[in-house]
Amino acid sequence: MRPLLQLLNQPLPVDVMTLVHDPILETRLLHWPDESHCAAFAARLAEKPGLHDAFLELHGPLGAGKTTFVRHLLRALGVAGRIKSPSYAVLEPHQAGALSISHFDFYRFADPREWADAGFREIFAAPGLKLAEWPEKAAGQLPAPDLRLTLAPAVDESRSVRVDALTPRGVELLG
Ligand SMILES: Nc1ncnc2c1ncn2[C@@H]1O[C@H](COP(=O)(O)OP(=O)(O)OP(=O)(O)O)[C@@H](O)[C@H]1O
Ligand SMILES: [Mg+2]
Repeated sequence: MRPLLQLLNQPLPVDVMTLVHDPILETRLLHWPDESHCAAFAARLAEKPGLHDAFLELHGPLGAGKTTFVRHLLRALGVAGRIKSPSYAVLEPHQAGALSISHFDFYRFADPREWADAGFREIFAAPGLKLAEWPEKAAGQLPAPDLRLTLAPAVDESRSVRVDALTPRGVELLG
């Protein structure tokens, strides 16, 4: 077979397939030397009106700083009191004035029936801010996010962060 045709016959790499389904409209690469930079990014995001009906996915290994980012974002939005990690409950709901916030952690999400039984479908159909740690464990259930944050921890306190906007609202949140 001629080389060009051979190339056409090769399976597509996974990230190309992802682009086909959820095109990335814009990407930002950030560096957080310490947690205060995570807090500052969260505070800027909290000021965006589009956040009030957005879905953010948080990727990264255990201890990357996903919950830490959510805590800073919730504080910046005005959530008072102790902010629990949802690990055991999958969903931890919060309220900031009129804004409903649903903080998911799908790390222990194993049964897809739980999606319907727990009313998660209704949450995604209604207005409000949705945040999801370990969204890959609920793949197939979740809609495309507005923003996808991927946190890569270093041995020190620094974090490399990739932020992808997958919708026009996500692009607006990055602006
Ligand atoms: N630059 C930084 N940004 C965010 N968190 C940081 C940073 N530097 C240090 N940390 C610390 O890293 C830890 C991250 O823990 P956190 O619970 O947020 O991780 P996680 O990604 O939610 O993990 P899990 O997958 O277990 O839910 C916290 O103790 C936080 O204080
Ligand atoms: Mg966490």
